[in-house]
Amino acid sequence: MRAAEIADQLTDVLVTEEEIQAKLEELARRVEADYEGKDLLLVGVLKGAVMVMADFARSLKRPIEMDWMAVSSYGAGTKSSGVVQIRKDLDTDISGKHVLIVEDIIDSGLTLSWLLENFASRGAASIEVLALLRKPEAAKVEIDCRYVGFDIPVEFVVGYGLDFAEKYRNLRDVAVLAPHVYA
Ligand code: IMP
Ligand code: MG
Repeated sequence: MRAAEIADQLTDVLVTEEEIQAKLEELARRVEADYEGKDLLLVGVLKGAVMVMADFARSLKRPIEMDWMAVSSYGAGTKSSGVVQIRKDLDTDISGKHVLIVEDIIDSGLTLSWLLENFASRGAASIEVLALLRKPEAAKVEIDCRYVGFDIPVEFVVGYGLDFAEKYRNLRDVAVLAPHVYA
């Protein structure tokens, strides 16, 4: 669905589907150049990164490996708890591999900083981060994110994989959820 089809449940549309696709193509060209001649493992963080992973991976004009991890940091609310739990671990042994973590959004940065430390202890050859969205003013820890799609204000957004209580992941655009939906 598009934002216009559920306009009553949203306030602002921050990033349209067209803008997302153009940005992912741009990031794909950078990643192709940066990883030339190297094997690349994309690790998606479930479930939010499903859409970014699907579109970004297919934008790459080269083969890659893909794996998934599920962590929880939020529950059903709209604020980060800072508590990270592994719900599903990687299937792949990442030691010696060039890993690119694919994320939907960096909010406080707590989830990623935890993941980066966790991955570093497994002996990856390199670890970088690609995030479609970032809320710079919400950062509680600084994340060195090499590939960022869009910086957005500190507001609760949904769409393109991002949910509120498991809903709105199938929205094609990224939009601010109207407060009456979660108040
Ligand atoms: P962080 O640990 O605060 O950086 O948040 C990490 C996770 O919280 C993200 O991967 C998302 O799954 C979720 N999250 C953060 N901000 C939003 C938002 O605005 N809408 C929906 N989910 C969010
Ligand atoms: Mg996420």
